[in-house]
Amino acid sequence: MVQLTLPANSKVNKNGKHYPAKEGAEKVRTFRVYRYDPDQPDNPRVDSYEVDCSNVSMVLDGLIKIKNEIDPGLAFRRSCREGVCGSCAFNINGANTLACTKSLDDLGAGDITVYPLPHQPVVKDLVTDLSNFYKQHAYIEPFLQARDAEPETEWRQSPEDRAKLDGLYECILCACCSTSCPSYWWNGDEKDTNGEGEYLGPAALLQAYRWLADSRDQLTNDRLNKLEDEFKLYRCHTIMNCAQVCPKHLNPAKAIAEIKKMMVTRPPANTPKSVKAAAE
Ligand code: SF4
Ligand code: SF4
Ligand code: FES
Repeated sequence: MVQLTLPANSKVNKNGKHYPAKEGAEKVRTFRVYRYDPDQPDNPRVDSYEVDCSNVSMVLDGLIKIKNEIDPGLAFRRSCREGVCGSCAFNINGANTLACTKSLDDLGAGDITVYPLPHQPVVKDLVTDLSNFYKQHAYIEPFLQARDAEPETEWRQSPEDRAKLDGLYECILCACCSTSCPSYWWNGDEKDTNGEGEYLGPAALLQAYRWLADSRDQLTNDRLNKLEDEFKLYRCHTIMNCAQVCPKHLNPAKAIAEIKKMMVTRPPANTPKSVKAAAE
């Protein structure tokens, strides 16, 4: 029988350093945090910190307290503390979410585990390298494109057409959805510099649909052509992890289904030969 296991040097040591609570600490909660420095020979490990949470309500507050008062070497990203910038996305108690909007009360009474977003290269501790994720976002050309001459003032849009972008434009590119998608884990890797042969993942595809659905954008057919191969769009198998974890309550799976619908309902003259052949 084939045995699938991690290489010895990537196995996580679950019993890393332990930092006990200070005397007199109140409302103590234990944070179990992933630690890894690729420049060091040691395997990843999980350190546990007993934190006085009398003034801590969100997971991010706890991490900041650890960094400020217990272990300044802990690395993680954060900026806005308001669920707007998308930089504090981690895997918390097994689910991807934003540390700044996840309250300790929501996590129950047990330990709080904080790991980096899954299946991304780790730069250090909770900091992942999202270069491929951003490259995929750039690939869908997330900006208005039109063939008509630019208007003197602005591109106009009716309130009804504007309303079609609700649930799409609010994405903060936190990567919670893509990094929780099993299909993205298996097919999302960069295969070559042109983005060929890889699944773009729910975040990039949600944004692709945001521009496909925009009444002012005139490159609809070119945009669909760029998504038309067996990987970029069609590796979504409607597993729905993306919609379940999105901290902004968006539904990338629905947007992906809308793109698939646009693919099959566009006029045959606009459909590349490969799609026609598959449909016959
Ligand atoms: S619905 Fe599609 S994009 Fe969302 S998690 Fe599933 S496979 Fe991934
Ligand atoms: S769709 Fe949601 S989970 Fe995905 S990147 Fe945007 S905000 Fe984050
Ligand atoms: S710090 Fe900006 S979203 Fe959490």
